[in-house]
Amino acid sequence: MKENEVNKKEYKEMCDEVQKEAHKVVLVTGGAGFIGSNFLEYFCKKYPYYQMVNLDKLTYAGNLDNLKECNSLRNYVFVKGDICDNDLVSRVFHDYKIADVIHFAAESHVDNSIKNPRAFVETNVLGTFTLLDNFRKFGTGRFHHISTDEVYGTLGKEGYFTETTPYAPNSPYSASKAGSDMLVRSYFHTYGIDVVTTNCSNNYGPKQHQEKLMPTIIRTALNEQPIPIYGDGKNIRDWLYVVDHCKAVDIVFHEGRNGETYNIGGNNEHNNIEIAAKICEILDAKRPRVCGKSYKELITFVKDRPGHDRRYAIDATKLSSELGWKPEETFESGIEKTVEWYLQNLRLR
Ligand SMILES: NC(=O)c1ccc[n+]([C@@H]2O[C@H](COP(=O)([O-])OP(=O)(O)OC[C@H]3O[C@@H](n4cnc5c(N)ncnc54)[C@H](O)[C@@H]3O)[C@@H](O)[C@H]2O)c1
Repeated sequence: MKENEVNKKEYKEMCDEVQKEAHKVVLVTGGAGFIGSNFLEYFCKKYPYYQMVNLDKLTYAGNLDNLKECNSLRNYVFVKGDICDNDLVSRVFHDYKIADVIHFAAESHVDNSIKNPRAFVETNVLGTFTLLDNFRKFGTGRFHHISTDEVYGTLGKEGYFTETTPYAPNSPYSASKAGSDMLVRSYFHTYGIDVVTTNCSNNYGPKQHQEKLMPTIIRTALNEQPIPIYGDGKNIRDWLYVVDHCKAVDIVFHEGRNGETYNIGGNNEHNNIEIAAKICEILDAKRPRVCGKSYKELITFVKDRPGHDRRYAIDATKLSSELGWKPEETFESGIEKTVEWYLQNLRLR
């Protein structure tokens, strides 16, 4: 038998196996990234009778090591591929008989979107379109689109983003996410597919790519390098522990009203300098510097990011009053767990 025939046979067996006992087959995109991998670990264990298919291109941000716990589970399979590749996406929908989609895959780092906006428009806009259009043809359940609070732009000292705040994205990242949100909305109104969108605030926790704020603070501190903080360090974000985000997605996916959007936030506002100081205090206690000084002395202000939004803050009343979600982790317990995870797992230098 030729090699490609063996592969075809194995592939068919894999597709059959996936559908055998599953109550439904859920396509998760971007499951090798930060939030997607935390979500899959949580969801695969909680719903052993759902079959999860993880479609991920494995860009620099995707890491299969994030999924070690899922690899041994019977209800998890991985497919490497690009959500912009229409032939591949239709094959996955058709062959695995995908019912639902939970769509995390995105280019997600604002700094990269300033340097290379094209990749953001391609993956976030065209990729979302490709998924929606195949879902329209093959999907039988729900399309859950994962988005960000950054689509709303920036706030002054007062106020919160609600689901009715007008969109005002300021970076190519947030503009491309806003575009994807609009496509999801249009597919609901035009084609009547079952959709929900969640717009979440800044996540933190285990498995985040080292380019993001908290891993950067921890990595540079432990390397005895300057800890870079943009501008005056007073940019405020509403921080949410990643597992609390995963639990919110679980609830909205199962119980959210068709066609609705829900904001998800931690009610937990901190500026970047407070985050850096808090992490330095935890590191001072857990891994003191040889020189005896605090890691805080390494904090260094660097040139601000262009178009840097000043403050984001989420009003998550709709989600808590309609669906009863609230974050379980406090900032203290969440950041402690996060630093501990990086101390165990971070590769320095
Ligand atoms: N990180 C946050 O604080 C945050 C907050 C709110 C919303 N979000 C949203 O949550 C989602 C996940 O964010 P994250 O922080 O886990 O991102 P991430 O960058 O850690 O992971 C993105 C994943 O998507 C994959 N991917 C990228 N392009 C792809 C493509 N064309 N085809 C298939 N896979 C592709 C990558 O390989 C990676 O595994 C994104 O949609 C993001 O906009 C993130």
